[in-house]
Amino acid sequence: MSWLIKNGTVVTAEREFVADVLCLGETIEAVGPDLEAPEGVEVIDATGKYVFPGFIDPHVHIYLPFMGTFAKDDYESASRAALMGGTTTLIEMCCPGRDEDPLEAFHLWKSKAEGLSSCDYTFHMGVTRFDSATASALEEIVGEGVASFKVFLAYQGAFGIDDTELYETLRLAKELGVIVTAHCENAALVAKLQAALVADGKTGPEWHEPSRPVQVEAEGCHHLMTFAEATGAHVYVVHTSCKDALDVIRGAKSRGVQAWVETVIPYLVLDKSYAERPDFEGAKWVMSPPIRDKSHQFALWEGLADGSISTVGTDHAPFDFETQKHMGHPDVEKAVTADFSPRGEGGNFTLIPNGIPSVEDRVNLLFTAGVKTGRIDLPTFVKVASTEAAKIFGLYPRKGEIAPGSDGDVVVYDPEYRGVISAETHSMRTDYSGFEGMEILGRPSMVTVRGQVMVREGKFVGEAGHGRFLARIPTHF
Ligand code: URP
Ligand code: ZN
Ligand code: ZN
Ligand code: ZN
Repeated sequence: MSWLIKNGTVVTAEREFVADVLCLGETIEAVGPDLEAPEGVEVIDATGKYVFPGFIDPHVHIYLPFMGTFAKDDYESASRAALMGGTTTLIEMCCPGRDEDPLEAFHLWKSKAEGLSSCDYTFHMGVTRFDSATASALEEIVGEGVASFKVFLAYQGAFGIDDTELYETLRLAKELGVIVTAHCENAALVAKLQAALVADGKTGPEWHEPSRPVQVEAEGCHHLMTFAEATGAHVYVVHTSCKDALDVIRGAKSRGVQAWVETVIPYLVLDKSYAERPDFEGAKWVMSPPIRDKSHQFALWEGLADGSISTVGTDHAPFDFETQKHMGHPDVEKAVTADFSPRGEGGNFTLIPNGIPSVEDRVNLLFTAGVKTGRIDLPTFVKVASTEAAKIFGLYPRKGEIAPGSDGDVVVYDPEYRGVISAETHSMRTDYSGFEGMEILGRPSMVTVRGQVMVREGKFVGEAGHGRFLARIPTHF
């Protein structure tokens, strides 16, 4: 499909300017004033609208066996939801269990996307065990086009790895030029604090945050920074929730540690009072690290504006409220006992599947809460929601840019649109929205992936299976 977008305000990570954008087939051909439409090319008038590069979500979970259940979306629903919200590339965490073979797991995760995803996708390869066979399996996976790993310094007994495994992973990553993304929380502290709270009868969702206080996250970051400094590996801290963690990483970066920081949209627009809602409703907002006191929002917005935070992802991890979040309800008689959970009598907060559905809402919420309030300017918005992820993860300039030669992934964005987020209307498969009732001050009016129009005026017009696996090569030597 080919098209010419006329008279829009093109916004890149560097600047904004009025220009036309011509896409022939899958690729952007020209960007400039007064472009002529070749015969048979659809002309789209974007007067009064922004033209953004397709947005990239660097942190999603789609196929996710986790905490005794499975996340709700599959690639068909998640990619459709992503596109409705302007996200054209997903980077999913491939998270095998400790006893699974990494290569088999990678092929399993990839098979879940093939033929089903409407948007383009790639993976961070989860390293959840490191033994004598791991290095060669990981090398093979890197050879198949994966240029980033993922480690968990939390979830003891599930995805979590120990310090020796962390060291070996970082050492191998450095050798291969692979960046290591990391969930940073001190797992032993979490286990101890959870057990103490549950023993005290503090079992509701409001106790999730106190079980993983900011010190737990800051220590996890300090830990990763220490290992990164010792090995020279390049690291990327996922879902940074608080000022304390950010300060630790800033300090390490000032010493020369090669580290990048991600935050995720729930931390920017929600605060811990949501998880304190009565009658177990708070479970909807249980994720890890937890959503913090409102004061941390300001530190995160500041970090985005001053460049110390590089990206905004979602950590999309969708679980239903009624059937899945309720696994941690006090009336549920130990229906599930995760290995990493202290075993109380009934359900408790440690059994609530962690995560918030958000892949559809990230861009509109960031635009509304960031750009419309003046907290970040338009190029910064593009940078943190698209371009930086492309640069860090080896997708640039194919993705994250509007320039000749880049993929024809664009979002024509209507800043005059007004709407309200609701589970009644969202495309994600969960029975609730963590952002129910929030107003959005803009939305995509057209979204394309490699030239193909996928969304028009709030309607999905794409096809499942259009998405391609994006092979990447290591760049972090
Ligand atoms: O609560 C979260 N973040 N759920 C998804 C798994 C992870 O830690 O990223
Ligand atoms: Zn995580
Ligand atoms: Zn430590
Ligand atoms: Zn995650």
